Amino acid sequence: MSAPTWEDLSIDELEEHVRYHNRKYWVDDAPEIPDESFDRLVETLKRRAPESAVLSQIGPAGADVDVVDPQAEKLAHSPAMLSLDKAYDEETLLKWYDKFEGGVVVTPKVDGVAGCLRYDARGHLHVAATRGTGAIGEVITEQVRRIKGLPLQVEATGIEVRGEAYMPVAVFERKFKHEYASPRNLTAGALKLKDPDKTADYEIRFFAFDLLGEDFDTESQKMARLEALGFEIPEHHRVERDQIQATYDDIAARRSQLGYETDGVVYKAERIGEQERLGHTAHHPRWAIAYKFQGDAGESVLREVVWNVSRTGAINPVGIVDPVVLSGATVTRVSLHNLAIMEHLGGEAGLRLGSRVLMMRRGGVIPNMERVLEAGDTPVEIPAACPECGAPTERQNDVLMADHKDNCRAAKIRQIEHFVSRLEIKGFGPKLLEQLYDAELVTTPVDLFTLSVSELMGLERVGEILAEKLIDRIQGRREVAVDKFLQALGIHELGKHVSAILAERYDSLEAIRSIDAEAFAEVHTIGEVIARSVTEGLKEQAELIDALLEHLTLVFPSPAEEPRVEGSPLAGKRVLFTGAMEAMTRKDAQREVEARGGQCPSSVVKDLDYLVMGDADMERFEQGWRSSKLKKAEAINAQGGAITILGESGFLKLLNDGADQ
Ligand code: IVH
Repeated sequence: MSAPTWEDLSIDELEEHVRYHNRKYWVDDAPEIPDESFDRLVETLKRRAPESAVLSQIGPAGADVDVVDPQAEKLAHSPAMLSLDKAYDEETLLKWYDKFEGGVVVTPKVDGVAGCLRYDARGHLHVAATRGTGAIGEVITEQVRRIKGLPLQVEATGIEVRGEAYMPVAVFERKFKHEYASPRNLTAGALKLKDPDKTADYEIRFFAFDLLGEDFDTESQKMARLEALGFEIPEHHRVERDQIQATYDDIAARRSQLGYETDGVVYKAERIGEQERLGHTAHHPRWAIAYKFQGDAGESVLREVVWNVSRTGAINPVGIVDPVVLSGATVTRVSLHNLAIMEHLGGEAGLRLGSRVLMMRRGGVIPNMERVLEAGDTPVEIPAACPECGAPTERQNDVLMADHKDNCRAAKIRQIEHFVSRLEIKGFGPKLLEQLYDAELVTTPVDLFTLSVSELMGLERVGEILAEKLIDRIQGRREVAVDKFLQALGIHELGKHVSAILAERYDSLEAIRSIDAEAFAEVHTIGEVIARSVTEGLKEQAELIDALLEHLTLVFPSPAEEPRVEGSPLAGKRVLFTGAMEAMTRKDAQREVEARGGQCPSSVVKDLDYLVMGDADMERFEQGWRSSKLKKAEAINAQGGAITILGESGFLKLLNDGADQ
């Protein structure tokens, strides 16, 4: 078949071509059309028949290439190939560091497939295996022989080298990114192909970081020896306590330029003697720890700070930074949250313009300025007046405030904007709200409820149909859940989490309005500052609340049906737990899900949203292991299901998401 214009083909023909060329590439190893042309073919089919089953058969799986059969040879690891302990903050890391002497060696954590290589008495590569369960791996010697840059013979006898096989990002982008989600899965697949010659197509590489069978005093010596034997080793840095965080920051900032995927930074005690003294648990060595990245990171420079009037009237800083790409999107603006957080970021000198900063997108969503890597020289000027209405500013605890509430257009519009967003009244964007405000039709949230179709039609570009629709939407929100109502008031500290707590604990608004700050402060996660801000805010907004109640009916949750945290990503989700978790029992985990409005079915069902397992199982899963529940989940996904498979830490993140505002 020659390369026709794909557009001219019928869907049947497109499918046939995709199957044919996929097979040519993967099975016969004799592609007839260039990769780009194949990509275009697939794109065309995707666009014209997004449901086509052929789309899920692209790649080796669809080309009938058998993976190693389940009876394949196994290799027992001795000692076991352990996991790594994890840290998510500097404090945990320093606590770990203080347990031994002699500094650490730091390397990027390579996100690939762990494996071991054994060399025989003549120094020949004799057997290679995946990490597998840690105790037992699958033999993949022939596949590993196709890894470029990996010595098949070494000048040493009877050694075992351990490390990580990975696919360079450049290879992934050149050959696979259109069809596959991640280089890591491809690496695992490539190492299990039945025909080892095909493994070469994936251009897998191998980083060595452990050597058994020879003695060393330090990790640095071990790395040097591995390199001398001809292995590729990852970049490594020998550092002391004060450089621990900075080394992490540095690697995080260069993450996208490393050439391979990383999911954190590994620290190992430099002295082998100390490693031996510390020993290991059944799960991980005590002398090593991984400081995991929490999102995509990049480096930028802070150029300017602009000040934004928020719905609460606070004037909050927003950083303008040099463009930086995080999780695929270019970021130039980053909320610095409030005055105190901004100051804290800059350390003692305060945040300065021209600073080199570490930017991160946690969970891939909102960009955040994590910390200053190198201070700049120009101090940030804190405005003496509200940039919108000119009212003088003053510091109130953590925030810069101005008494502009009654005459600041920006603050008022933002308050209404916040109100419609929390009540989910769709269609009232900032432009429309500005028009309504300037026409004096809506100057407080209360005015929304008396707005008429004819008033709306008086505005530019609002016709009758739209006006009616907008009014319908407002009228459709006259019954509102009490926690949404509380959030909508725009009171400082009265966000999702606190509103949910109030809604759960009290059964009337009167009760909420008369709570005692001191008693409320005692509630878990509340504390004095929040309690005071909320009780005072409710008093300050008394007039607004009374006026709103003329138009609204508040609905209190009946505990059985209403989620405690309505905004939780777990609300309405089905979650199934499998295997043991560390932080809580399965029962407790189920209770937490249910408290957030989720459900916990007892088996893998079609409409399951999350299958959650302990991190140890998650790691085994990532190495290829499958329990029957996992197999079932994957089978459902292959048929259009959307079950997300999560480790414990991923689950904990979901639990906490939406727990604050
Ligand atoms: S040091 C556990 N350094 O992570 C022994 N391991 O989660 C310490 N890994 O199976 C190994 N990058 O294959 C070390 N720079 C790195 C690493 C690394 C990835 C893998 C390793 C291990 C897994 C544990």
